[in-house]
Amino acid sequence: MKFFIDSANVDEIREAASWGIVSGVTTNPSLVAKEGRDFVEVLKEILQIVDGPVSAEVLSLDAEGMIREGEPLAALSDRINIKVPMTTEGLKAVHHFAKKGIPTNVTLVFSANQALMAARAGATYVSPFIGRLDDINHDGSQLIGQIAEIFDLHGIETEIIAASIRNPVHVTLAAQSGAHIATMPFKVMQQMAKHPLTDQGIERFLADWEKAKQHQKA
Ligand code: E4P
Repeated sequence: MKFFIDSANVDEIREAASWGIVSGVTTNPSLVAKEGRDFVEVLKEILQIVDGPVSAEVLSLDAEGMIREGEPLAALSDRINIKVPMTTEGLKAVHHFAKKGIPTNVTLVFSANQALMAARAGATYVSPFIGRLDDINHDGSQLIGQIAEIFDLHGIETEIIAASIRNPVHVTLAAQSGAHIATMPFKVMQQMAKHPLTDQGIERFLADWEKAKQHQKA
């Protein structure tokens, strides 16, 4: 499973990318709004930082509008994929983009049937939202497993992006359930890298080395 960062903040994207673990970026209107910056400017900067797919979401609710918004975004780079909501209008737009060779990410997926429909319309990625399902007492990671099983059984190449990841446990569950990618906030990446025993271990090595210093020649 690959890691994408779910963020429109170029500083945190740059930091995470420097760790060598970021294969792509997903953005959404809420994340872009938080930055208070021009969307296209932000996308251009992200494309400079990360050498992988970058999701740019459209806001229109009708297919025509999604296409009108999506095409200029896709023209920025062949690494941009157009993020479209999982609606019948979204499916029409995905079908259009697929015919033109423009990659898409179908977002706000909450059922296996939605994922299957998106894949059949030609989606490059589907994004089932783990956290928002868990929030309403459903099992988000079980959905990932179901979609992975169906895609595998039917030879579907659409990749599953486990989205709406809220904590490191979600990441492990996404990997175990067969997600190709997990997209997560920078904070979750920081949490994943930490372990109290790692910190204690470093402290102990340094303390012991202090005692050993006197015996070192160089
Ligand atoms: C995915 O692409 C979405 O941007 C994101 O994961 C949504 O996460 P949230 O449910 O925490 O807002």
